[in-house]
Amino acid sequence: MIYKLSFAIALCFSLCFDLSIAESYVLDDKIGLGRTFDGIGGLSGGGATSRLLVNYAEPYRSQILDYLFKPNFGASLQILKVEIGGDAQTTDGTEPSHMHYENDENFFRGYEWWLMREAKKRNPNITLIGLPWAFPGWVGHGKNWPYDFPDITASYVVSWILGAEQYHDLNIDYVGIWNERNFDSKYIKVLRDTLDKVGLTGVGIIAADGNWDVSNAMGVDPYLNDAVEVVGAHYPGTTTVIEALKTQKKLWSSEDYSTFNDEVGGGCWARILNQNYVNGLMTATISWNLVASYYEDLPFGRDGLMTAEEPWTGNYVVESPIWITAHTTQFSQPGWTYLQTVGHLVHGGSYVALTDSKGNLTVVIETMTHDHSVCIRPPLLPFNVTAQNVTFQLKGSFASIKELQVWQSKFDFKTKKPFFFKKLSPLKIYDGSFTLSLDVDEVYTLTTISTGQKGTYPDPPASGPFPKVYFDDFNVANPSFSEAPDFADQTGVFEYYINLTDPGPHVFTLRQVVTQMPVTWATDADQTISVIGDYKWQNLTVMCDVFMETVKTGGVFIAVRVDKGGQSVRSAKGVFFWVFADGSYKVTNDLVGKTVLAEGLSGTRAYGWHTLTLTVEGEYATGLLNGYPLWKNAVVLGPKNGWAAIGTHSFELAQFDNFAVEVK
Ligand SMILES: *[C@@H]1O[C@H](CO)[C@@H](O)[C@H](O)[C@H]1NC(C)=O
Ligand SMILES: *[C@@H]1O[C@H](CO)[C@@H](O)[C@H](O)[C@H]1NC(C)=O
Ligand SMILES: *[C@@H]1O[C@H](CO)[C@@H](O)[C@H](O)[C@H]1NC(C)=O
Ligand SMILES: *[C@@H]1O[C@H](CO)[C@@H](O)[C@H](O)[C@H]1NC(C)=O
Ligand SMILES: *[C@@H]1O[C@H](CO)[C@@H](O)[C@H](O)[C@H]1NC(C)=O
Ligand SMILES: *[C@@H]1O[C@H](CO)[C@@H](O)[C@H](O)[C@H]1NC(C)=O
Repeated sequence: MIYKLSFAIALCFSLCFDLSIAESYVLDDKIGLGRTFDGIGGLSGGGATSRLLVNYAEPYRSQILDYLFKPNFGASLQILKVEIGGDAQTTDGTEPSHMHYENDENFFRGYEWWLMREAKKRNPNITLIGLPWAFPGWVGHGKNWPYDFPDITASYVVSWILGAEQYHDLNIDYVGIWNERNFDSKYIKVLRDTLDKVGLTGVGIIAADGNWDVSNAMGVDPYLNDAVEVVGAHYPGTTTVIEALKTQKKLWSSEDYSTFNDEVGGGCWARILNQNYVNGLMTATISWNLVASYYEDLPFGRDGLMTAEEPWTGNYVVESPIWITAHTTQFSQPGWTYLQTVGHLVHGGSYVALTDSKGNLTVVIETMTHDHSVCIRPPLLPFNVTAQNVTFQLKGSFASIKELQVWQSKFDFKTKKPFFFKKLSPLKIYDGSFTLSLDVDEVYTLTTISTGQKGTYPDPPASGPFPKVYFDDFNVANPSFSEAPDFADQTGVFEYYINLTDPGPHVFTLRQVVTQMPVTWATDADQTISVIGDYKWQNLTVMCDVFMETVKTGGVFIAVRVDKGGQSVRSAKGVFFWVFADGSYKVTNDLVGKTVLAEGLSGTRAYGWHTLTLTVEGEYATGLLNGYPLWKNAVVLGPKNGWAAIGTHSFELAQFDNFAVEVK
């Protein structure tokens, strides 16, 4: 890389003594090729980042999926990575495991299966990856650690891959270890053996989805080295380490971006998509997250390639990262090869070039300035970018190219009139070279591929708040998804449940099903909780039928003004109205139940239905049990607003029915 950069500078010094003359860069395949391109992707999960997407009505849901996956339309993503749900909080929610319990198997929970099918429907060639963040408690035998019984953990992960194939006709291409947690060499080898034993020899292992350290271990352990197909690092800041290069494995930025998806986010994405290869020889980059489809007030709101966080209106926003992705994905496919002639531009910015080895050429240039391309992490050292004229000389197979298609994005922070992925007139090539006048904060694609398209749909419905009146009786005989619309589980898993022996109105309910603390990734609460609604809600009534299934020690709650979720769920405050199977009730100001606002006797028991009503207005809260006042005028000084919620006192089975909200 250093060689190429100094080459460009040397070329410049001989040619650009007059500043109006452009610096010159050579694009040549005859001096040898670079690494094989593996694609650009999005990550759904880690955690629950696509939660609200599934609840969009058609045609909006399909439109969003088209912007993400449909080839030659929008982002045209080449990789979809999903979380292998582990029943635990993994950033913005929990995702259900296919095995809540040791003797349990169900491959229809959650929405990742559906998402993979929809992606595959649009792009049959898309690469699929699964990675666990957390595991059900039984996998760890009660310890918060998945490696003590490597055979059990490996079988659990492999069963997910087999289920994908058996129930959804999905072939998983790669599987990871444990997201951003210590890897265990023995476990990686056991996982490889377990995959091979069931014939999944084609499923590659990515390790270790954290820093580059696994490459040190691979250097001294040939069996480990054999077991790993891709060294995947997170947020590498576009650089790699010598040990990783020495493995001679594919190097991927297997999770990156995680930046608010405004124009600076788009700039971050443009810079790292090029420079992850230029600086770090990484041949795939995967965005956390795929689509920001979770309540925006949860951690890392809107850190996705596009925004779809309003299933209740159908509103979604195609943000700039979608079009920045298209600059590469619409004009180069996995299996194409980078040229060795890639690098930095003399006055800042970078260029990559890829070929399909049939004579096609795609060049992507970015001139993102420092302040307009800062990613959430790691810190970005200062650098300067200025407007510049650049000449590219086409050599080798490309010498005879006569015309290139041109696509431009201009962030234009000055005039605030950015445009993205605009097709310009084709560029005629004379004498095998062309010159571009580059401004700062631009992205260009120059390519022999003529199939690019800026896909569009009519504007979606206008943005609007969550409805002020909401009701769900969970009466769905054949739900498409295991989760009820708009409930965002923050600890535990709440699923549709059918009790066919119930004689009355509670055949169809929503049931919390996690009965043991999972092997966690974040810090789950000791209680389970699912939030819903508008974070701005202040004055409202929530009503819900509840059914405890744990005698004596069971407990359930409904809540309003819940102010925290995601990784911070343990410290959630709000107004929580609990009833317990021992016949008592409590009103607390926090999820942990430390700050008690009211308490007393309720007569509530397990295995019977009770109706809870909670009203909060200003600084006063009131609770009804089965329609009769149980407590009133509890003083609530804070929080002033937050979501509504339901949940349980511990990891215990419990059911909820006829959930209703009315906001004043
Ligand atoms: C999938 O890949 C094959 C082989 O590379 C290619 O011929 C085909 O056009 C691709 N299909 C799509 C939908 O991209
Ligand atoms: C480029 O790709 C297109 C589409 O795959 C193909 O038809 C063409 O032969 C390739 N080569 C050149 C030099 O355009
Ligand atoms: C960027 O340019 C400014 C002004 O010319 C200069 O002071 C600074 O050292 C440059 N920074 C870098 C990282 O080159
Ligand atoms: C680029 O070239 C044009 C035409 O020769 C010249 O007017 C302009 O000043 C040059 N830009 C830079 C940044 O050198
Ligand atoms: C199912 O309904 C029957 C009849 O009301 C009740 O006895 C039983 O406890 C219910 N079981 C569950 C798990 O809800
Ligand atoms: C909630 O009620 C209080 C007291 O009645 C009032 O001051 C406040 O403005 C209300 N908030 C909203 C959003 O209506």
